[in-house]
Amino acid sequence: MNRMRLLRVLLATVLLSGAALGLGAFAQTPGLDQRAERHRAFLQEGVPLEYRSRRNPYPAATMVIRDGEALYRHHCAACHGANGEGDGAAGRDLTPPPALLAKLIKRRRSIDEYLLWSISEGGARFGSEMPAFKDSLDEDEIWQIVTFMRSGFLALGEAD
Ligand code: HEC
Repeated sequence: MNRMRLLRVLLATVLLSGAALGLGAFAQTPGLDQRAERHRAFLQEGVPLEYRSRRNPYPAATMVIRDGEALYRHHCAACHGANGEGDGAAGRDLTPPPALLAKLIKRRRSIDEYLLWSISEGGARFGSEMPAFKDSLDEDEIWQIVTFMRSGFLALGEAD
């Protein structure tokens, strides 16, 4: 093997192992597999029977969005961030990290029953810190939060 060829082989080896390391780091981003579990369960089984076909009864009215915003700030923003960007202070060290709700809400799977199920039951089944809210919020309150999320996290502030 002449020197040029040897150099080329060495270079290729370095590049390839760099790529392999990069891929390995991606696969090991902590918690992303756990977050995907929820999505997989939904695709394979749908939501549990008690949540099936449940619909948000609220219109996207200012009053509802405002109530939902207040509830969201109180119960969700600490982890998911004020605008649903997953950047709340309490969520910073969680594995898996809090979901980016602002993105999720635009995805096709974000139908009412999926959101009601996720918020009511939390993440115990998937080993995440997402709390179950079925005992601390009633269903109406969860729908108000969903209405606020669907408004694009519209910040209307406190009512006068
Ligand atoms: C203690 C931190 C914490 C709080 C408070 C919290 N969450 Fe979460 N949430 C998480 C984490 C972590 C995940 C990602 C893992 C999972 O899906 O269980 C998550 C996931 C979710 C999901 C599923 C996302 C997806 O990808 O499908 C929804 C919906 C959600 N949260 C809504 C809410 C709402 C609404 C509130 C307030 C009523 C709330 N969360 C409060 C930590 C939190």
